[in-house]
Amino acid sequence: MPTEDLQKLSEEVSSCHRCALRNTARGVVFGEGLATSRIVFCGEGPGAEEDRQLRPFVGPAGQLLDKMLAAMGLDRNHTAYILNAVKCRPPDNRTPFPEELLQCRPHLDAQLRLLRPAIVVLLGATAIQSFLGPEARVTRIHGTWHREQDMWLMPTYHPAALLRNPQWKSFAWNDLKQVIDKYREIVDPNHVTIHYPKSTTK
Ligand code: URA
Repeated sequence: MPTEDLQKLSEEVSSCHRCALRNTARGVVFGEGLATSRIVFCGEGPGAEEDRQLRPFVGPAGQLLDKMLAAMGLDRNHTAYILNAVKCRPPDNRTPFPEELLQCRPHLDAQLRLLRPAIVVLLGATAIQSFLGPEARVTRIHGTWHREQDMWLMPTYHPAALLRNPQWKSFAWNDLKQVIDKYREIVDPNHVTIHYPKSTTK
């Protein structure tokens, strides 16, 4: 069962000391949501509030992410799964180093093997680079589909970047509308969101 398997993996990852991030973080923020979800949202790594609560996206960026999910007709408990490229908070919220991304990648891969999502939304540069390589730039590739194993990957802006640059929100919404289209195409043809009714999608 994916729920129990994820719980077991979460316990294993909680004792990880592969990199030095675990020395300064309060704990591992594994991820949360519906274990059988077909859609996963991947951020960068925990911030201060996430490290305090050991839950992903519970600070200001998380509040915006919840609104983005709601606009898509999704929510973190019932239809989506939320995780990060690195599971421990980098000191002072610095960007994770490439080695830290690599060290944490097996945990992410193990999670994805259990979750088996159809769609992964990559939120911001760090998540994008963890999947698509160090040269990938959000400004250039947001809104374009990528295929990896059985997953459709959609790079878009990180909610924290959208809080700093609200003028990018319309770009992000266009990306997310493509995600809703794909979700309707391959997961649930009857998926409803009043913000993007089905009749306007084609
Ligand atoms: N930013 C992220 O990338 N992940 C979180 O969990 C919180 C903020």
